[in-house]
Amino acid sequence: MGAEPDSPATIDSSMAGALAQLREAFLPRFQAAPTEQALRDENAKILGKKGELTAILKGLGQVPPAERKAIGEKVNALKNEVEQGFERCLRDLRAKLRQAELSAPAFDLTLPGRMPATLGHKHPISLVREEVVAVFRQLGFAVFDGPEVEHEENNFTLLGFPPDHPATDMQDSFWTESGHLLRTHTSNIQIRAMKSLKPPMAFLAPGAVYRRDDDATHSPMFHQIEAFLVDRNVTLAHLKGVLAEFAERMYGPGTPVRLRPSYFPFVEPGAEVDIGCVFCKQSDGTRKGCSLCKHTGFIEVLGCGMIHPVVLRNCGIDPDEFSGFALGMGLERIAMLRYGIPNIKLMFDNDPRFVAQF
Ligand code: PHE
Repeated sequence: MGAEPDSPATIDSSMAGALAQLREAFLPRFQAAPTEQALRDENAKILGKKGELTAILKGLGQVPPAERKAIGEKVNALKNEVEQGFERCLRDLRAKLRQAELSAPAFDLTLPGRMPATLGHKHPISLVREEVVAVFRQLGFAVFDGPEVEHEENNFTLLGFPPDHPATDMQDSFWTESGHLLRTHTSNIQIRAMKSLKPPMAFLAPGAVYRRDDDATHSPMFHQIEAFLVDRNVTLAHLKGVLAEFAERMYGPGTPVRLRPSYFPFVEPGAEVDIGCVFCKQSDGTRKGCSLCKHTGFIEVLGCGMIHPVVLRNCGIDPDEFSGFALGMGLERIAMLRYGIPNIKLMFDNDPRFVAQF
């Protein structure tokens, strides 16, 4: 009864049985895989080099040529079904995992980090700006802000610079196509304040300024702070008193201040201000002289003067009734003196090892 175990008919029917069994089984097996890896492993067990379907394919050689084509087609059809089933299950599994991820409790971003983070530092220019502003606020000055792109009038003309004045050359400027310029100093704020407000006033104007300068001691963008005061009966003595207070509060008690006559078109008289050198100061308060103060014991910190009567009049203030003083300093310079920084370029290199020292 029945055929010999290895007769072609037996091979044929056992192959058909194996195919039918596999067709029943593969999808539930794929669907039961909990992870992508498990799914891929299951797929390899069927379609891999040593896979079940691959084994069936290899057995095709023993099928009599007459049957081979029909069985071969069945094997290939099942192979396609398995491949498509695998792709579908892979898509479903990924969607399911994504859904689980999305509905899981949210990651708590407020938990403290496990790695200690290094904090950033304020730049020395920011630090001295805050210090200078604090000193002048103690003296009753308030901050007045203004734009960095300015009208020529506010930056030069109303401050008493005639159009061909050498100072406009000296401060060779960045002009915009519309005929405005990047302000070359914070003195534009004197004009803006005096045009818009009636005296008395005492203001402070910190900010960035721009000049076409770029060498070892100059940067095309730098920072200034301007302070000015307008009232009745203001004299040079008031200016000198404010400067003395500023020097003491910024650089320590007893810091000497001296004024040297100098010229700025918007002040009369005008002066440059030196303070006792901070680099060669001795413990007894005297100065020995060093290369940074050119062995004078004094170092220049700012420009100042009594606001020129013409400037007051340009802003609608009667110079017979009111007078005022103004002073302006470069913050890079103040920072160098405050912290003993020998080279201005260090301030623009953005080396974190430099900034971390303040
Ligand atoms: N604006 C001057 C400068 O940039 C500084 C200054 C301000 C001088 C106020 C006198 C009075 O050089």
